[in-house]
Amino acid sequence: VRRHLYTGISELVQPHALEGQTREPLTIQRDAALLIENGQVSAAGPRRAIAALAAAGHATHIDLGDRAVLPGFIDSHTHVVFAGTRVDEMARRARGETYEQIAASGGGIKRSAAQLEQASERELVETALGRLARMLSKGTTTCEIKSGYGLLPAAEHKQLAAISALGGRTAMRIVATVLAHSIPGVYSERRAEYVALFCEQILAPAARAERARFCDVFVEQGVFTNDEARTIAAAARAAGLGLKLHVDQLHDNGGAEFAAELGATSADHLEESNARGRAALARAGVVATVLPGCRLFLGKGPWPAARALRDAGCEVAVATDCNPGSSMVVDLPLCAMLAATEGGLSLEEALWGITRGGARALALPATDATLTAGDRADFVVLSAEDWRTLFYSPGDPPIDAVVIGGQVVTGALT
Ligand code: NIG
Ligand code: FE
Repeated sequence: VRRHLYTGISELVQPHALEGQTREPLTIQRDAALLIENGQVSAAGPRRAIAALAAAGHATHIDLGDRAVLPGFIDSHTHVVFAGTRVDEMARRARGETYEQIAASGGGIKRSAAQLEQASERELVETALGRLARMLSKGTTTCEIKSGYGLLPAAEHKQLAAISALGGRTAMRIVATVLAHSIPGVYSERRAEYVALFCEQILAPAARAERARFCDVFVEQGVFTNDEARTIAAAARAAGLGLKLHVDQLHDNGGAEFAAELGATSADHLEESNARGRAALARAGVVATVLPGCRLFLGKGPWPAARALRDAGCEVAVATDCNPGSSMVVDLPLCAMLAATEGGLSLEEALWGITRGGARALALPATDATLTAGDRADFVVLSAEDWRTLFYSPGDPPIDAVVIGGQVVTGALT
């Protein structure tokens, strides 16, 4: 057995289950220690107790010298596998065009689909690896990745194969989602035919090959209707996939209530959702995932109403939505900070959103986002004593090292 004893932990941050809105979502243990065995936490708690435990068996000792330790961050919504660039759309927006105008005039998702069509699986893997490495350097240890830039079966399966290959090329844990993102132009007059094709030739084979754990649908005016999403959700359920939904991103379509009606695991975006929708999400136990990277990147529209979602009783997760068109953002702590400064969460709730909230949004066990005995040894070591320093220098989080499965994968612990 490989045993490592970490001492000198100024603050060991433990997110816990939410009970109503009042209880603090984190517990902070001061002057703590962690005992890691074979990639798992075998004990965590006050330094004296843990050090005594470790002394009973041989362990390599690492003194962190008064630094805060947090569970690894879980980015529960990304489109990080894509080809090419849409930087010119950024230039067009800066001159006043909107995201929707650009999408309607040859840009947007269809443009990324044309670029992905031309790329090899290998190119998709290599370019995504670079982005994953940058995410990792910001503390992300688990990352969800969606398909959805393939649109047609061959290209969707190429994208899903790239996502699956990434799992073996990065230390990060990858969770795959098959995404119904847009109706391809050739099917614009035959929408029902495309929905059937998506269910039978994309979703079902992806589930059979275990290349997706979730199915997601972009429900929006001009994209998929509620009825089309219902058909896809039924196919997802039949195939054993969990359901996630992009809703109320650009317009209030009653998408939050729709996600509650379908009993989705998470409803994501929610920029335009109303109070009835927020209450429905809370009642149905659907995780509300906010993606402040979009408002940051697009520069227009409302910030996601994270505070109102929490006050309605929702569990709020925060993710990057990393994608070439609406959120070219790899920095999950930055998104959490924005969920606090612009969305009204407390720093504690913001950290909860990228740890336990991310785990909830991916239906992962709670043990994946905490650091107690039996949990995955995925954690982030800050260069600061106070864990809140994570949110103090946006874009430059003070991260000394990231550990996955007990192994230091980026940075150093000296
Ligand atoms: O989550 N809303 C739909 N999909 C992505 C954007 C896709 C794109 O513009 O490429 C999103 O924002
Ligand atoms: Fe998205």
